[in-house]
Amino acid sequence: MALPKGTFTIAPGVFWVGVKHDNRRMFDALIPLPRGTSYNAYLVVGSDKVALIDTVNPGFEDELVEKVSVHVDPTKIDYVVMNHAEPDHANAAKHMLDIAPNAKLLAGAKGKEAAMMYFDIDPSRIIVVDETTKIQLGGKTLSFVDAPWLHWPETIFTYLEEDKILFPCDFFGSHIAHGEFYADEYGNEKSIELAKLYFAEIMMPFRKQGMNATEKVKKLNPKVIAPSHGVIWRDPHVILDEYEKWNGEKFEKKVLIAYVSMWGSCEKMARTLQEILVKKGVEVNIYDLPNSNIGDLATELVDSPILVVGAPTVLNGIHPVAAYVALLAKTLRAPTKYAAVLTSYGWGGGAVKQLQALLDGMKLEILDVVEVKGPPKQAQFDKIAVLADKIEEKLREF
Ligand code: FEO
Repeated sequence: MALPKGTFTIAPGVFWVGVKHDNRRMFDALIPLPRGTSYNAYLVVGSDKVALIDTVNPGFEDELVEKVSVHVDPTKIDYVVMNHAEPDHANAAKHMLDIAPNAKLLAGAKGKEAAMMYFDIDPSRIIVVDETTKIQLGGKTLSFVDAPWLHWPETIFTYLEEDKILFPCDFFGSHIAHGEFYADEYGNEKSIELAKLYFAEIMMPFRKQGMNATEKVKKLNPKVIAPSHGVIWRDPHVILDEYEKWNGEKFEKKVLIAYVSMWGSCEKMARTLQEILVKKGVEVNIYDLPNSNIGDLATELVDSPILVVGAPTVLNGIHPVAAYVALLAKTLRAPTKYAAVLTSYGWGGGAVKQLQALLDGMKLEILDVVEVKGPPKQAQFDKIAVLADKIEEKLREF
């Protein structure tokens, strides 16, 4: 399906006026975007007033104005809602306020500070909203949900009461710029896969806040969830059920093995462990790190209870590629419960100590360390067999 050039009607008076950025390939200079992304801005036209909910990434201001103009005169916008201050949704807010001289920015209390700090928005043009606020557009009422730390401190969600449409900005988002607008059109399964990658990078560190917000959303019982990236969920339970699992640390019975190998020792140990576990009927996802997509690995971290890192010592420390993965798991606050290390060295170790230091602060238990000087021999294979038994036993907890 070709990428849409125009706008899209979600409900009477509710329009998608965003941008599909199909050739963007990285987000936050961290996570690959295999399907690009979209910046979903929404226009809500009441009988009296008009609100624009979120805007678009820098560089797409003209496209936003063009799409708004299909429905209303952009100079007549009354409200620009800033659910979240990150520039991919908020940078064009100033541009829209400049175009619409009477428009006010709606934001939470922390959002007001952010709008002034990041975008130099005049405080006289900002109305602070909270969970008691109702904004009447004429037959369409906007209310707001406090959603701090999802994923910045100032985040709010906007709810269109009459149409029961929730606009939660990044929450429930996915990076995709396909032609279809709805998850069920693109395919729920494929949409969930992309939403999980998105969750891994953006929402996984904030699982507690994410669970609170998921509960609030369930109580609202929206008919449609329209996030600011990717597909729109018109069967909200599809994504709500997944968010309950991911935020609630509902693990799959599986093991994630991520290894780096320079001369084959760590690879031999990693593959031996994989083979034994597979024979036991355990699901194993194994990544040869230098040849792997870091997004796939981050996605696996969401619901893998056990992480095995295979890495040699380089000079006096851990191979830098393995260090990166340990740091990634820690930075994204992966829910990993158990870890194990498979490591080799030529003349002096150091990888284990450094890896332990990198993982310090994660609430995980190290099941075992299998270390070898040079290539692995029977003694290490025996230890790996014992490790596999331990892994099998621990997996019974999940
Ligand atoms: Fe899509 Fe946190 O911005």
